[in-house]
Amino acid sequence: MDFTLSEEQLMIQQAARDFAQNELLPGVIERDEEQRFPKEEIKKLGELGFMGMMVDPKYGGSGLDTMSYVLAMEELSKIDASTSVVVSVNNSLVCWGLDTFGSEAQKEKYLTRLASGEAIGAFCLSEPEAGSDATSQKTTAIEKDDHYVINGTKNWITSGSSAEIYLVIAQTHIDKKHKGINAFILEKGMPGFEIGPKENKLGIRGSDTHSLLFNDVKVPKENRIGEDGFGFKFAMKTLSGGRIGIAAQALGIAAGAYELALKYSKERKAFGTEICNHQAIAFKLADMHTEIEAARLLVYKAAMDKDTGKNYDLSGAMAKLYASKVAMETSVEAVQIFGGNGFVKDYHVERLMRDAKITQIYEGTSEIQKIVISRSIITQ
Ligand code: CAA
Repeated sequence: MDFTLSEEQLMIQQAARDFAQNELLPGVIERDEEQRFPKEEIKKLGELGFMGMMVDPKYGGSGLDTMSYVLAMEELSKIDASTSVVVSVNNSLVCWGLDTFGSEAQKEKYLTRLASGEAIGAFCLSEPEAGSDATSQKTTAIEKDDHYVINGTKNWITSGSSAEIYLVIAQTHIDKKHKGINAFILEKGMPGFEIGPKENKLGIRGSDTHSLLFNDVKVPKENRIGEDGFGFKFAMKTLSGGRIGIAAQALGIAAGAYELALKYSKERKAFGTEICNHQAIAFKLADMHTEIEAARLLVYKAAMDKDTGKNYDLSGAMAKLYASKVAMETSVEAVQIFGGNGFVKDYHVERLMRDAKITQIYEGTSEIQKIVISRSIITQ
């Protein structure tokens, strides 16, 4: 497998790295503390083409490959995972889903705004009683004349109040179970569509996570994505790609924590020498470096599978499972290397540790990734 990056990919990686250093780092502690959405930062990312990276330029996107997207996700996540989750959901769950499965009219009306960063998108699958068990959708979409009527509640929706365009999964034919599920495009402000309270989270606090309430929301039939009953497959296919984005986010969190810990260990002295010279610290750095490199190979492999038209359900799930474990373990070790300073907000590693946890939960928990992986290897 050749992971040599092209000149274009290296340029995108550098541009994301510069953006993270110059635009995200200065306010990242305050945004986390105040749970403040990175509104200006997302606007700038849109102007630079980071909000619709894989979308056809015809619809306002950058027309790049998945590898470029994961490189950007890694760099942004080294500094600010709250911003990178907004980028990830918009790119791989919303834009990719619409670009791949939307109608021409839907692309013209919605994708152009999403891909250029003019509007932010949200992906609405989870419900109070349907998180991992995604087929148990209770939100209903009942067909009536030229529209559907949507009723129900969605939970833990990333960009819940900042988004303007929402992809909502709902049950149309209850008797058909997952084959009766549909996906719809909803707009903020549609009568009956209410945004619930904001969640007060452990990590990724700069992103806004909300429940959404639908009370007799009328959605035109032309806003259904794909054929009647395609909604569950739409959600699964979209999430398969989304998981590569979250794997890249986890990789970035791990690499960010490691880079800070390495630098600190070369400066901080104890017992007469820099702490990196103590084997207790040096061996931690060796483990971190090795595990991050292994995670990176899995993430790149999944991106390459997607870019070369191979099935990426398995490689994406393995990348997310492993990279999120490495993010959690590495960030905990980074805090340990920083000692007392690691427990203080100014040094960034405690935030990376808090942010790491969600990568083992959203877009399919680690346990769900193991279901996907085990089913795939057993049926191969
Ligand atoms: N691609 C296409 N189709 C797929 C698929 C895939 N990757 N995975 C499953 N399907 C299809 C199956 O083929 C099956 O269809 P048929 O009956 O026509 O063959 C159908 O979907 C149902 O599949 P299963 O029988 O395997 O369903 P299941 O109930 O056992 O569940 C699951 C499968 C993998 C566990 C699934 O429920 C799942 O992925 N759950 C986790 C949901 C999730 O990731 N939620 C995250 C929320 S979104 C989020 O976090 C976004 C955010 O804001 C950050």
